[in-house]
Amino acid sequence: MAASKKKRRILITAGGTREYIDPVRFLSNAGSGQMGYALARAALRAGHRVTLISAPTTLKPPAQAELLRVVSCEDMFRAVKKKFPQSDCLIMTAAVSDYTPAKKEKTKMKKGKKILTLRLKPTPDILAWAGRHKKKGQILVGFALEDKNLKKNAEQKLLKKNLDLIVANKPDAIGAEQSAVFLKSPSGPWLALPYQSKRRTAGCIVRMIEKLLAAN
Ligand code: CTP
Repeated sequence: MAASKKKRRILITAGGTREYIDPVRFLSNAGSGQMGYALARAALRAGHRVTLISAPTTLKPPAQAELLRVVSCEDMFRAVKKKFPQSDCLIMTAAVSDYTPAKKEKTKMKKGKKILTLRLKPTPDILAWAGRHKKKGQILVGFALEDKNLKKNAEQKLLKKNLDLIVANKPDAIGAEQSAVFLKSPSGPWLALPYQSKRRTAGCIVRMIEKLLAAN
């Protein structure tokens, strides 16, 4: 690491959370954790200290990162609340479930012949919470997954959740090895990164975060 560069504490969430309906069934999404794990590796390569809060994935975590395994949105929220105060930057790459079953059955549900209606309740928005609680000097990075009006919707999330950087991409990025992303900070213009490996994209995002931290 260059002598002038500061070692930062980077907190990263990754993977798709699971919301259990009963002991063996859950609601989840196609989040694979690849972007979050690539960011963890990029931040470590750049000499930073990394805490990775990971929802279930099949990926091998980088050995040098502190790893906290979580399952549901509620678990992830608890872990973020614990680690965020000591972090210079939080990057929320996790594909967090927006809903969870209103009631979790204690035993495996039995099948029946009637239509089954599942009642869901909203989960807490972890990133919005961090936006309300961030202290001076802390940088907050969110991801936005949008099928349409990508830039408009992503910019709304940037402002509404009080973020310092938003990384916008399309649903085809989820679970893929490569992706094309767009980046924006509140005062800067949109920056388009080429369609490339998540490893390369992660390197670009970490450099951008370093600049934001240095300017903050
Ligand atoms: N996020 C979060 N907690 C949630 C849902 C999302 O922290 N309960 C974070 C994600 O990790 C991501 C950002 O919020 O960094 C945006 O997630 P996204 O799914 O694009 O948008 P939502 O805010 O969930 O809104 P919508 O699904 O309506 O687009």
